[in-house]
Amino acid sequence: PTVTFTDSEGNQRTVDATAGDSVMETAVRNGVTGIVAECGGSLSCATCHVFVDDEDLDKLPEMEDMEDEMLYGTTEDRRPNSRLSCQLPVEDGTDLHVTTPKTQV
Ligand code: FES
Repeated sequence: PTVTFTDSEGNQRTVDATAGDSVMETAVRNGVTGIVAECGGSLSCATCHVFVDDEDLDKLPEMEDMEDEMLYGTTEDRRPNSRLSCQLPVEDGTDLHVTTPKTQV
């Protein structure tokens, strides 16, 4: 699978991902800017905020309450397609596309 990251200026980068990793881990491993992930994936920092392409939203697990709450503490305001990338698993056969927030660098 691959994950494509677009930054707020429209620069796009597609990286190979490993099934079972999160989108956040994929970003960190590949040095993708725009995902800070201060807490390392324990759902307590909200610095792994991404906007998921609408057509990919259905491919992801539903949001838990905790993620929903954390999304109110992001540096750039949440939108209907906001998710925390540490909660998004990469799966075989599924390519994902996300945009990183402008303020999260
Ligand atoms: Fe901290 Fe996702 S990495 S909430």
